[in-house]
Amino acid sequence: MNLDLDEKIAIVTGGASNIGRAISMNLAKEGANVIVADLDTEQGQITSGAANQQYSGEVIFQQCDVTDTKNVKSLFEMTVGKYGAVDVLVNAVGWDELQYFTATEPNFWDKIIEINFKGVLNCSFEALKIMNTKGSGSIVSISSDASKQGEPREAVYGAMKAGVNSFMKTIAKENGRYGVRCNTVCPGVTIPEDDTEVGDSSMWKNIDSMFTQEQLAKIAKTLPLKKIGRPQDVANAVLFLASNKVAGHITGQVLSVSGGYSMV
Ligand SMILES: NC(=O)c1ccc[n+]([C@@H]2O[C@H](COP(=O)([O-])OP(=O)(O)OC[C@H]3O[C@@H](n4cnc5c(N)ncnc54)[C@H](O)[C@@H]3O)[C@@H](O)[C@H]2O)c1
Repeated sequence: MNLDLDEKIAIVTGGASNIGRAISMNLAKEGANVIVADLDTEQGQITSGAANQQYSGEVIFQQCDVTDTKNVKSLFEMTVGKYGAVDVLVNAVGWDELQYFTATEPNFWDKIIEINFKGVLNCSFEALKIMNTKGSGSIVSISSDASKQGEPREAVYGAMKAGVNSFMKTIAKENGRYGVRCNTVCPGVTIPEDDTEVGDSSMWKNIDSMFTQEQLAKIAKTLPLKKIGRPQDVANAVLFLASNKVAGHITGQVLSVSGGYSMV
């Protein structure tokens, strides 16, 4: 199916590894020009290089820390300077370490708030100015089913992702009149196919530090679809929501891609 993303300009934050990487690759496959915006230069260059080898869209890497407003401003200025527009923004950056709330400290909470919540605000703010002026655009934020479920060891992360869900609904209501759609995708546990898909700064560089193989098997057993998610599962949903052609009447939605983990 033609999604009409050919030659569209897409920024994917956290686009170097795992879910963000699959989103960058998917968009490039559809012919979009993709800016992979990530902290991790080495993995960002690997991902952009791989996409350029295989697909028609031009993929460039831009080093960017989404928590730094100056960095984010430069990212959007560079993109508009080079391509004249931003048609799609995917906020895929996220970070967490699994710990019980009572075992954590305020500086850990601050880091989670900055990366998972403020990063989305910073990038969406710049994108909306450009998209509203153009009269079209699609923003997709990657949240988490932890935002709906109250996951043990993800207290602050889950709260920030719930904040993202709400923020995205509000900006959907505020900016629909300018032709801008804003949607959210909530993955469940989603692991890379292999370790070439993740750089050193990925949460999944050492999968065992997140979940042991036994824990992953247990999680899969509890899910209606009986399997753990893969980055492509999430990236397919993002591609759909990014496309004005197929999702042109969809905004303010929060879609779980989690094997049925959450049905709220
Ligand atoms: N993988 C999962 O199981 C899962 C589940 C639910 C939600 N999510 C969400 O999906 C998104 C992608 O997760 P993932 O598993 O691909 O993560 P990941 O850790 O594999 O990749 C995250 C990427 O973001 C980059 N990054 C981190 N901080 C950054 C910053 N401040 N500025 C710019 N780049 C930064 C990293 O370098 C990395 O390339 C995140 O928002 C995450 O919270 C993931």
